[in-house]
Amino acid sequence: MKKFVLDTDIISGEGTLESISKMSLKRVCVVTDKMMVEIGIVDKLTTILDKSRIAYKVFDRVEANPSLETVNLGLHHIIDYKPDALIALGGGSVIDAAKAIIYFCIKTKEVLVEKSHIIKPMFIAIPTTSGTGSEVTSISVITDTKTHSKIPLKDSLMLPDVAILDASLTLTVPRHITADTGMDVITHALEAYAATGANRFTDLFVEESIRLAFGNLLKAYYNGNNKVARQHMHDASCMAGIGFNNAGLGINHSLAHAIGGAFGISHGRTNAILLPYIIAFNSGLSDGNLELYGKPYGRAAELLNIESDSLELKVRSLIELIRQFNKKLEIPANFREQGVDSKAFEEAIPELAEKALDDICTATNPRRVDRTILERLLKETL
Ligand SMILES: [Fe+2]
Repeated sequence: MKKFVLDTDIISGEGTLESISKMSLKRVCVVTDKMMVEIGIVDKLTTILDKSRIAYKVFDRVEANPSLETVNLGLHHIIDYKPDALIALGGGSVIDAAKAIIYFCIKTKEVLVEKSHIIKPMFIAIPTTSGTGSEVTSISVITDTKTHSKIPLKDSLMLPDVAILDASLTLTVPRHITADTGMDVITHALEAYAATGANRFTDLFVEESIRLAFGNLLKAYYNGNNKVARQHMHDASCMAGIGFNNAGLGINHSLAHAIGGAFGISHGRTNAILLPYIIAFNSGLSDGNLELYGKPYGRAAELLNIESDSLELKVRSLIELIRQFNKKLEIPANFREQGVDSKAFEEAIPELAEKALDDICTATNPRRVDRTILERLLKETL
């Protein structure tokens, strides 16, 4: 069975932030963070809202890895203000927090009011980094600060109605964040390309995402003001999001969720460090199973003009290309180089493997894994 769904309107291109003025909105709630306020991105939006005589309230309390407490504060904000639209303006954390606010808002109303009387505010996602693809997915991750655990939520209620991809909002993103988030895009695309849910519809988006991301990430990294490269990365991020929202991801993300949470390394960077090791395993290169599992990686190599009659050479070249990208982006080759304490990492391996095994992304990994395999892979990445 092939399944593919795309329920978000996508508006892409420089200056498309202006399209907010044409959406017949009367009253909106903007969910964002302090940084977006400080660097003037929120001003760009509120200037448009003012000009269009749209009333608004700004909730700027979202932090990195948003907590349940923050979601609760935002929930009160939206319940009191009763907006006809919720605009999430920021990176992955902001969009994730806004998703959870919408989700709990509707769930709370369902307890109090009959379902047919509930009007869901329009949900508009405006990403200001090119990485998570969160603007087109129905997934959100919230942190429970009491138990130090991540709470993954997945519900169609959280899928944005509109995604605005205006890369002029990404020009001020610092280099290391461009690097980390860009490698997250590449990881999304390569995992979705090999995942068990992949099909020719998801491949279409993923293949364009692979071409765009490999072709533009270094340009955006070396020159943050390169508007063309920034827009290509923004589109690539969204396309990879469409791909993995339908096809699923794999153990690269499962392990990244576990390691990132335990050692406080950014999500994109954790993925980038893991990626060469995980492709070597998932493709079958490391254990002589290339004929069984290697084909998607061979096709990915072909998309990047790596030509050879040998599948092994294609997969090896793809892995080498990723290593070269990491090197140029100043991303270390393993977690020791990243500054992680070796002893603490080694001690954490059983727990990290256990968490990764239970992660939602493991179910769509192209190869079945068990705890022993995950522990071995974790050891390799140190
Ligand atoms: Fe990711």
